Order: sequence, then C-alpha cells, then structure tokens
Amino acid sequence: MSLKEQLIKDKLPTHVAIIMDGNGRWAKQKGNLRIFGHKSGVNGVRESSEACAELGIKYLTLFAFSTENWNRPKIEVNALMELLIATINSEINTLLKNNIRLNAIGRLEDLPAKANLKLAEALDKTKHNDGLTLTLALSYSSKVEIIEAIKAIGEQLKENKIQVTDINETLLENHLTTRGIPDPDLLIRTSGEQRISNFLLWQLAYAELYFTNVLWPDFNKEELYKALLDYQTRERRFGLTSEQLEKK
Ligand code: IPE
Ligand code: IPE
Ligand code: MG
Repeated sequence: MSLKEQLIKDKLPTHVAIIMDGNGRWAKQKGNLRIFGHKSGVNGVRESSEACAELGIKYLTLFAFSTENWNRPKIEVNALMELLIATINSEINTLLKNNIRLNAIGRLEDLPAKANLKLAEALDKTKHNDGLTLTLALSYSSKVEIIEAIKAIGEQLKENKIQVTDINETLLENHLTTRGIPDPDLLIRTSGEQRISNFLLWQLAYAELYFTNVLWPDFNKEELYKALLDYQTRERRFGLTSEQLEKK
C-alpha cells in the first residue's frame, strides 16, 4: 500500500503549518549558492500545497520569511524578494487550477512595493477559491503579531469600547492576523532543526510537532504523507487522560 493509501481520511489535520528550512544547506551540499537552494525550495511549496489540496486539507501555512531574515546579507534578501515575485507569476495558474485561495500574514508593508503589489494581485485573483487556504507568512514575527494585537486591544480599552473583563482568548485571537483560521493541528519543520523560531507562538499551543532531517528543496508529497501518518499515530489529549478520551 502506498503511503497515501495508508492515510485515514477522517483523521487528517484541518491545518498544517510548515517551517520550510534547509535551503541554504541543500545548496551548499551541492556546491551552489544559497539562492539556488531557495529557488529549488519552490518545489517543496508546490508539492506540499498540491498534496494538501488533493487530500482536502483546508489550511496550509508556510513560513516563508521571518522579520529576523531581513538581517541576512542584502544580496540574499533581494534575491528572495525577486523569487517571491517570480514564484507568484509561475504558480498562479496552479493555484487557480487547484482551487487554492492564497492568503498572507506578516508585515507585508515591509516588502518591496513590487512584491507587495504582486502578492495583492494574487490574493485578489484567488479570493473566490474555496478549497485549500494557503497562507504565506512573510516578514512574519509571532511576537510582533501578539504585540500588535495587544496594542489594538489597548486602544479599545482606552476608548471604553471594551472592559478589562472582556479580555479573553477569543478577543486576543480575533486580533491576530490568523483570525478566522483554526489553530494548526500539525507543525512540520524540515532540516533537522527543532525550534519554533518565532512562528505562530500562540496558535501552536496544542499542535503536534514533527521534525524531519529532509532539507526543504527535497520535501515532496511522500514526505508530507510521512508526516501525516506520524500525526495519525498521536493521541491528542488536550490535558485529559486517555481513559477520558476513550469514553468520548
Ligand atoms: C529556509 O532555508 C528559507 C528561509 C529562511 C528564507 P534557509 O535559508 O534558512 O536554509 P539554511 O537553514 O541556511 O540551510
Ligand atoms: C525560520 O528559518 C524562518 C523561515 C523558515 C522563513 P530560519 O532558518 O531563519 O530559522 P533560524 O534562525 O535558524 O531559527
Ligand atoms: Mg534556516
């Protein structure tokens, strides 16, 4: 039986989040420049989004560029921004064909105007698609996102629109850029690193974590199936005991 056939259809996650890591090391192993790794990483994006769309997974969120990544050498940052534009151009038809709605979170205003415009255009073109929602985290920092939410809530308090007692999980979640999207059930990180790197700190509270040594440009549908199969062996207890779950 193929890996795909082994998947239990009604035990698939609703939301998969991925920290796409290892492009630089992949290129270095091949004696190439880092940007070659980033270009090859587009393959992983295509494979994982197609696989999720085919399986009927509703949300896929990809960490594409962190606020910390702005501190990389200028030449790499520029190449990544160019790559974002080129990738939207080359992949837009695949998105439309697969009924994928593109979404973006992060400080999009930090992106070069050209990239920001291209992104806005793609968001608009795919906005009526109702299959997979593919969210790209660009210039994203979870700490910044939470601080922005707290600031907005602070303003509402100051204007007496809400009371301190109105502050709860739902209110905070409604001020995050992920509002309306359920929390990830599964977080995948490639390249062997085992850290969160300022990604969806709030939203990952109860996600199952899956780490693989595969470098991002080598990530494909089969690797995603492996992660999903592993996920399906987990018992998600949310603080309860196994015995309590059995009774449910
Ligand atoms: C992930 O690959 C892509 C981005 C962070 C933009 P890296 O560029 O971090 O690759 P490594 O970790 O150096 O191998
Ligand atoms: C995290 O990868 C950010 C993205 C995948 C876009 P990094 O490679 O930048 O993470 P650290 O700095 O090694 O933790
Ligand atoms: Mg890295």
